[in-house]
Amino acid sequence: PRQGTRKARLCRLLTPNRKEPSMAIDFDAESGIGPKDPKKGELTTEEKALLGDIQGNILKSHGRDHSQHLFLKFDTTKANEARAWLVQLATKKVTSALKQWDESLTRAEIFEKSMKKQDPEAYRSDELAKKGSSIFINVMLSAKGYDALGLSSKKPKDATFCGGAAGAVSRLADPARKDWEAPYDTADLHALVIVADDDPGRVDAEAKAIAASLKGGTVVSTEVGKALRRGKNGPVHEHFGFVDGVSNPLFFAKDIPQKSDDIKRWNPGAGLNLALAKDPGGKATTGYGSFLVYRKLEQDINQFNKDRHELAKALAKEDQRTEPNHADWQLAGAYMVGRFPDGFPVSEKATPEGANNDIPNNFNFDADTKGLKCPFQSHIRKTNPRGDTTKLGETLKKERTHRISRRAISYEKKGKVGLLFLCVQKNIETQFEFMQKLWVNNPTFVQQNPRTGLDPLIGQGTPESQQWPAKYGSEKKIPLSLQQSVHMRGGEYFFLPSMSCLMSM
Ligand code: HEM
Repeated sequence: PRQGTRKARLCRLLTPNRKEPSMAIDFDAESGIGPKDPKKGELTTEEKALLGDIQGNILKSHGRDHSQHLFLKFDTTKANEARAWLVQLATKKVTSALKQWDESLTRAEIFEKSMKKQDPEAYRSDELAKKGSSIFINVMLSAKGYDALGLSSKKPKDATFCGGAAGAVSRLADPARKDWEAPYDTADLHALVIVADDDPGRVDAEAKAIAASLKGGTVVSTEVGKALRRGKNGPVHEHFGFVDGVSNPLFFAKDIPQKSDDIKRWNPGAGLNLALAKDPGGKATTGYGSFLVYRKLEQDINQFNKDRHELAKALAKEDQRTEPNHADWQLAGAYMVGRFPDGFPVSEKATPEGANNDIPNNFNFDADTKGLKCPFQSHIRKTNPRGDTTKLGETLKKERTHRISRRAISYEKKGKVGLLFLCVQKNIETQFEFMQKLWVNNPTFVQQNPRTGLDPLIGQGTPESQQWPAKYGSEKKIPLSLQQSVHMRGGEYFFLPSMSCLMSM
């Protein structure tokens, strides 16, 4: 039946449809796709078709502790061979979101069983973990990669993606490309293959097998990632010692808290439109991909600890003490990150002690509008202002469209440590780059007077004084300028094509 008045029908015809055509899935809905309880419900036919056509690790992290990232360069004179090789890789090895979904249910069951056995460590260490899932594989192409393969017609036309990471240097205040590590400084990186598993031996064997099978190209370099955990099954933390990977957009209904109270202060739910972009090379109905930002971020632990000590010393001085104590040290770190090392948000409590084990994410900064508990410049407040920008006239709905989905993993190589920072999104310009440029690097982010300064973790630009609460919750602030302790060593922009695109190369 035809619905609505003639005017309304005409209006619908003329207005670009925000809900994606020919898919019965609402890409804007933030309530998540899939059943709320996978034991009681299933994916719909449309959801299965969509998840079968997109790669895993986009809508949810693959969750494995070990990975290798193989950067490939294709030989333009052998583009046919390279394309045929990609088809084989996609057919035999690349993990679709549907396969990831199926395996995640098995992994969850195994996890539950090992918890019941009162032996959570068994989850990652014993054979069950290996039986629970297969090796995880992603493949993605840079703009130059599409060109080298002779696939310009399948290449997303997005200008930021096409300019690559090298094109973003001045926008993001990144180091000049000539100062990046080799091979990022000169080489064209055409493709990236991610191999991940909980067993590093399996990752290594699979990475070698993929490299050996490669046709029409070479492996230019390999990065090795390893999740750092407290205990075999404890939460993941990064090299500065803070729990990481806590707050991310959630796309599946089963992962989003169902009680309205549990999402009242912060709703982690996200519509598919935050991560999925139409793939010009994929099937008309289900062909979606995602843009991936790759940045090798070296962490200078000494510099970070020096800064943290300076801040702790200043806090002790306010309390008429010459030497900082453990509480000052804890609070200083929490002011910098916005969360204590155990992940507890500093906006909610002056000390992490006594907090229960769940790491809260249902919070915002409405009760801390002056940044007296969680400074505006702290890393999590800069990267997710949770409504702070509404005072500048932005709506919360709009602010939430800048969110990214982080898929990072730590690395350690030749005495250097850091984060292989990966994030996926629908649009690099309005998500990652917006966040890095207009929030992280922006010294007047949400406050002009006094200026906020840079994000003390990842801010790039000229360091200037940041304002730190002299005492937790007090109006008095201590001005102190912290130095940069994270350095960008290279990177590239990629697109994760749909399975239908990969299989028709
Ligand atoms: C959150 C560390 C780079 C964006 C966090 C958290 C830590 C952390 C400890 C808090 C826990 C969590 O919510 O997961 C680091 C380190 C980095 C780094 C050590 C570099 C070496 C970046 C970059 C971006 C970014 C480059 C993007 C420009 C975010 C976002 C959150 C976050 C969006 C979640 C904020 C929230 O929703 O509360 N990071 N990060 N991070 N980080 Fe980073």
